[in-house]
Amino acid sequence: MVSIGFLLMILMVGVCRGLSTSRIFEHMLINSNNSTSKYLTKDVIWFNQTLDHFSPFDHRKFGQRYYEYLDEFRVPDGPIFLKICGESACGGIQNDYISVLAKKFGAAVVTLEHRTNVENPWFVFGVSYAGALSAWFRLKFPHLTCGSLASSGVVLAVYNFTEFDQQVGESAGPECKAVLQEITQLVEEKLASNPMALKATFGATELKIDGDFLYFLADAAAIAFQYGNPDKLCTPITEAKKAGDDLVNAYAKYIKEYYVGSFGAEVQTYNQESLKHTTLSDSSGDRLWWFQVCTEVAYFQVAPTNDSIRSSKVDTRHIQYIPYHLDLCKNVFGEGVYPLVDATNLYYGGTDIAVPSYIITCENCGHGTDLRGCPQSPLVPEGNSKNCSSPDAVNKVRQQMIEQIDLWLSQCQAANRLSS
Ligand SMILES: *[C@@H]1O[C@H](CO)[C@@H](O)[C@H](O)[C@H]1NC(C)=O
Ligand SMILES: *[C@@H]1O[C@H](CO)[C@@H](O)[C@H](O)[C@H]1NC(C)=O
Ligand SMILES: *[C@@H]1O[C@H](CO)[C@@H](O)[C@H](O)[C@H]1NC(C)=O
Ligand SMILES: *[C@@H]1O[C@H](CO)[C@@H](O)[C@H](O)[C@H]1NC(C)=O
Ligand SMILES: *[C@@H]1O[C@H](CO)[C@@H](O)[C@H](O)[C@H]1NC(C)=O
Ligand SMILES: *[C@@H]1O[C@H](CO)[C@@H](O)[C@H](O)[C@H]1NC(C)=O
Repeated sequence: MVSIGFLLMILMVGVCRGLSTSRIFEHMLINSNNSTSKYLTKDVIWFNQTLDHFSPFDHRKFGQRYYEYLDEFRVPDGPIFLKICGESACGGIQNDYISVLAKKFGAAVVTLEHRTNVENPWFVFGVSYAGALSAWFRLKFPHLTCGSLASSGVVLAVYNFTEFDQQVGESAGPECKAVLQEITQLVEEKLASNPMALKATFGATELKIDGDFLYFLADAAAIAFQYGNPDKLCTPITEAKKAGDDLVNAYAKYIKEYYVGSFGAEVQTYNQESLKHTTLSDSSGDRLWWFQVCTEVAYFQVAPTNDSIRSSKVDTRHIQYIPYHLDLCKNVFGEGVYPLVDATNLYYGGTDIAVPSYIITCENCGHGTDLRGCPQSPLVPEGNSKNCSSPDAVNKVRQQMIEQIDLWLSQCQAANRLSS
């Protein structure tokens, strides 16, 4: 039996029609619906944070932003739920399933550790990259935490991440997948004959590097499945196919109206020239995320050699695989930048720390469904599972989450009584 103190609750949610990975999507997701009703709070609080916690000599500080939601907090000993915001700018505490858990456990919800009593039991939550962070935080600071929940936590760094494209195909199902593959082929042909006209169709003339353009197109398809909206993509393109309409135009329409217009993706995010900018702006997070990709976690979403949906040109060029991503890393960050995924996995433990873990399988489940419900974009208040295609699958995992938190809480409280 593993000691409870070292147990981590990793929820790798997704599968079936949902995907389980991170990228700059989370950043877009949060931007895409910034209305106050989607948040428990958007009131910013600041504190002077030490810049470098690992240097005994550097005493510089920076103003760090955080948020706290105390409406449900049971004074004085209620648990504290620390929600890590992740690789994107943090606009507040989102009103997802954590608000239901806070009500149930009398918890305070905060986005960062601050002056709250260390004696209170702390639980760390996060989705995607922040999911990995929440698991790693627990692993490195077991004495500061009572438990952690890594929702769709990307705890295993992967270099050649071919499974991403394969999952898109599986989630799409045979009919939609075949149309997506046909679109990729048509796009490749047009890219060879008249690239400017093609890029203009997609509103993406700024993407001078063909790899950036093809990557943008590949992401646009993935997003529908990753965030629980498969029909937004598959319905229009399979209908266009049946009607004999132009498939490239149908796909361009989906991208412009849904991926850019509604989901909130920005073409510029894919432009390596923009990624080079070091001045602080709304899109600075993209560059920071790519730096982690290029140095630590990779997750290079390359085309599988067989049966891929995305263009194999994203990664081929002269030799097979990788060049697109490594070229990007070199172009944006300079020579010698390389993701040491083995070192990352050795240091953090990869999937060996994923105990216990749960999988939710349902058609419109996706990234972080355990906390976000369905669809994941736009966010459903309180992460309501009502519109999930299998609400029971979601609710069952949520019940297990509650039981696990209950168990940890009683153990932390018992340990506290012993030590005081
Ligand atoms: C979100 O809304 C707030 C105002 O409520 C605004 O200050 C902020 O810039 C917005 N963020 C994004 C990414 O649109
Ligand atoms: C942070 O430090 C600045 C400069 O020393 C000070 O003026 C400010 O009051 C501090 N803020 C907080 C929240 O402690
Ligand atoms: C990634 O795939 C390429 C092409 O198949 C291969 O040469 C390379 O060794 C792979 N790298 C890793 C780390 O698996
Ligand atoms: C944002 O949320 C509101 C309210 O839920 C919704 O009406 C609107 O369509 C959403 N906008 C986007 C871009 O998803
Ligand atoms: C390639 O993919 C097709 C379609 O999924 C499959 O039928 C075939 O067996 C695969 N070939 C190889 C060599 O894996
Ligand atoms: C579920 O979907 C229906 C129909 O689209 C919508 O009216 C309802 O508000 C949704 N429920 C939740 C909890 O989002």
